Amino acid sequence: MNYPFWTVPHIGSGWVIGLIAIFHVMISHFAVGGGLYLPLAERKALREGRRDWLETLRGHSKFFLVLTGVFGAVSGVGIWFAIGLAHPEATSALIHNFVFGWAVEWVFFMVELSTAAVYYYTWDRIPERLHLTVGWVYAVASLFTLVIINGILTFMLTPGASWLAVAGTGQEASRFWPAFFNPTYWPSLFLRACVCISLAGIWALVTCSRIDADRQPELKTELVRWSAQWLVPSFVAMPFLLTWYLWCVPESQRALLSFGMSTIGPGVFTQVTRTVLIIIMTSATIVGVVYFFAWRAPRDFSLAHATAILALGLAATASGEYAREMLRKPYVIGHYMFSNGVRRSARDALNRDGYLTHSLWTRPNGDPQLARGEAMFRGECMACHTPDAYRGMKTLLAGRNREAIGNLLGMLHAYKPDSPYRAFMPPLVGTANEIDALGDYLATLAPAAKPVATQETGKTAVARR
Ligand code: HEC
Repeated sequence: MNYPFWTVPHIGSGWVIGLIAIFHVMISHFAVGGGLYLPLAERKALREGRRDWLETLRGHSKFFLVLTGVFGAVSGVGIWFAIGLAHPEATSALIHNFVFGWAVEWVFFMVELSTAAVYYYTWDRIPERLHLTVGWVYAVASLFTLVIINGILTFMLTPGASWLAVAGTGQEASRFWPAFFNPTYWPSLFLRACVCISLAGIWALVTCSRIDADRQPELKTELVRWSAQWLVPSFVAMPFLLTWYLWCVPESQRALLSFGMSTIGPGVFTQVTRTVLIIIMTSATIVGVVYFFAWRAPRDFSLAHATAILALGLAATASGEYAREMLRKPYVIGHYMFSNGVRRSARDALNRDGYLTHSLWTRPNGDPQLARGEAMFRGECMACHTPDAYRGMKTLLAGRNREAIGNLLGMLHAYKPDSPYRAFMPPLVGTANEIDALGDYLATLAPAAKPVATQETGKTAVARR
């Protein structure tokens, strides 16, 4: 409430974070997996005395350095800017809990970025064994960045009972470790490690595809095949890890997923189910493309093939992150803070004293009632909705008149245990006057409704989609 609202036209602020994050995940997971790929490949080349492998690896390490050191680092900082603007309250809560974790992570980042540069610039300049050691230092440092950030990311989905017991009392930092090693920590770590390993293979295929098969047919065959193998472990382990992960997510959070699954027959897919299906389909396609175009015909493996695999990987990663995001709804920090920054424990006080009472962010000009309604909408709804584009009110409210809108808001406010909206929307907080103002504002967004007032029931409303 003490922060201004960040409005992003059309896509909403969530997608700004999402787009940067998807790009960042592709690169940062490659930074970890590639960190393992380089020294392992170098070790193999040194043992077998393959100079031609070393030449290719050198080229790959340059690509690796530029991609991770420039694009990975910049997009990582981009996430900080985006979350700070879109979720100031949650970002602040995370920093208060994990400032020490982040400090440790940044030490590893420093080691990671500097060893990546040293590794690239010292090919043929220092003894081979020492060069390989630099590669291993990089591998360990980058693995630790994942080990740490994974604790914070999983905390947001499942903070765990121990931390939740003291949340809001000022004693949160005393539960650092249980919060860090929270219920989804381990399955998520192994899942992400698998993603890292397969992305190492995928990006290596990009470099390998550019080897001239007419000049070095043997080299290309070997390297393409060796890199393709990097995709195997994850495709074997991923289904099991995904099941383990979902099993650790509390039932209440899984509601959205199982709701979607159980209604696949009648044709109502929730977004989570749709994205899970996309992950499965893209992953299966990747396996097929890699098998037929890389494994079976390595010499003809072209940059176009590699790019196609990369694009499919991007789609799978994007869906994975999106599903994780949806799973967490309506919370930004599980069972503690809703996506709109409202703390669960603050609900009663906000209903009594008013949501806008302490807000400086209402617009003074125009109709005061609509201005208050708009401020309510910005504060409580725009973390997930926009007025007329992504998850737009104009579409979602179409056909509802002022009375129907009022009924819907009443349901959101009452937040009954059996409300279908609970799975993905936070309770609407505020006084009756504020909710009225929100209703008046929303009515200006909805296209003129038919005069018959619809009897609003959540179930039919959800099932309509
Ligand atoms: C945590 C994210 C989130 C927040 C915050 C949120 N919503 Fe939603 N809302 C959703 C999702 C997800 C859907 C489902 C959208 C879909 O099916 O396309 C939805 C659906 C809706 C619908 C359509 C429901 C139906 O039955 O037709 C309305 C209306 C709506 N939201 C209004 C609001 C209002 C008003 C607020 C603010 C008080 C709000 N939402 C806050 C996530 C959110």
